[in-house]
Amino acid sequence: MKPSRSRLAKPMAPAVQRYTASIAFDRRLAPYDVAGSIAHARMLGKQRIIPAKDAAAIVRGLGKVQRELATGKFPYREELEDIHMNVEARLAEFIGPVAGKLHTGRSRNDQVALDMRMFVKDAVVHSVASVLGLQRALVEFAARHDAVVIPGYTHLQRGQPVLLAHHLLAYYEMLRRDADRFYECFTRADVMPLGSGAVAGSPYPLDRDAVAKELGFAAVTANSIDAVSDRDFVLDYHVAAGIAMMHCSRLAEELVLWSTAEFGFIEFDDAYATGSSLMPQKKNPDVAELARGKTGRVYGNLMAALTLMKGLPLSYNRDLQEDKEPLFDSVDTVLDTFDVLAEAIASITVNQRRTREAAGGSFVLATDLADYLVKKGMPFREAHGVAGQVVQYAIAQDKQLGDLRLLEYQRFSRLFDDGVLSISVDASIASRDIPGGTAPAQVKRAIAAARKALRDAH
Ligand code: ARG
Repeated sequence: MKPSRSRLAKPMAPAVQRYTASIAFDRRLAPYDVAGSIAHARMLGKQRIIPAKDAAAIVRGLGKVQRELATGKFPYREELEDIHMNVEARLAEFIGPVAGKLHTGRSRNDQVALDMRMFVKDAVVHSVASVLGLQRALVEFAARHDAVVIPGYTHLQRGQPVLLAHHLLAYYEMLRRDADRFYECFTRADVMPLGSGAVAGSPYPLDRDAVAKELGFAAVTANSIDAVSDRDFVLDYHVAAGIAMMHCSRLAEELVLWSTAEFGFIEFDDAYATGSSLMPQKKNPDVAELARGKTGRVYGNLMAALTLMKGLPLSYNRDLQEDKEPLFDSVDTVLDTFDVLAEAIASITVNQRRTREAAGGSFVLATDLADYLVKKGMPFREAHGVAGQVVQYAIAQDKQLGDLRLLEYQRFSRLFDDGVLSISVDASIASRDIPGGTAPAQVKRAIAAARKALRDAH
């Protein structure tokens, strides 16, 4: 049962067969294709569009196909072009010509749209699970290191001291939005297109709602032309994946930086690091580098999918077959990246001596100095100027702020008193005690809220 060539006088040229066949990759849709066919056949029987006994024979035959697929015994054939024709041909081998009744009231155009929607819905479920896994790894790591301080950076220059846990919880927040974005694709993919036919709808009294219900869809598509043309739900996944990978890439970049000798903040466990084929001393953070690198291909897949859709006239065009490989690749990349990053993060050890040293150095307490003067009544702009002068002075004396004596401070403002000597990294962090701030109490609360949200999410 080759794809119908009823009006064509010659067999397909071999080069064309190779060029147009999609079975090498769309075999991945097989479970959805068969499930869709079973639901369609049952409905055809119930609606008396085909005899009930034929529907039953088809459903039984498809059960056999399902078992072959599950056990890896299904004989895929390139000359049958795609997964839809492969399944139907195999069904005919099992049950004979009655298999030809399965395609009543259906086209490969609405069939492939159905398969893709089912695939995206599953992909979303797995992607969200992987996002949650990475969130869990980050939150537990934060909880285990809740006393570690690092410099908070702006412009990649040391800014103000923060808790490492607070920094990591920033990624928890990004990933929360990523999970939301994935869920939104689920909602938009969750609309059932069968019954749209090739483009115009169907002349048979199909019970579209019954098929939607059996396949677990929330609704049926409202316009047959849109239903066979639309791949927005694929683009939605690519966008969600692109943004989620961007977040992974930023995290990965920081892990790479932090594991350099220059930062020396963290070390991956040996099981999550690689060596160099040339330099015996090397321990490289390849997992993080690849997470950063693979973000590029996920962006590439988004661009491929957007470009594919641009300028396509309604409705179905064979171009749409090209929607599959980029999507499959992005789903695999997202799942792999999130899962391995979660493991790699759990393996990290922190060099608390280095992080504390960095958090206290480079005049990161200069803002606290200004805030101290503000509390004594000085306008902030003026206080900013005084603190800047103190820093200049300390640099000229080759001293840190902590090395200065009260008399030295008082050269710059009479408002300085003993209190200035108790400005410290820990006091600075503890003072950011409002919602969203880095004070230990706030971070503790954020960790508890995150843990609860992750427990409730499953
Ligand atoms: N392999 C095709 C695809 O992925 C299936 C739909 C084919 N439809 C058609 N009219 N040729 O898009």
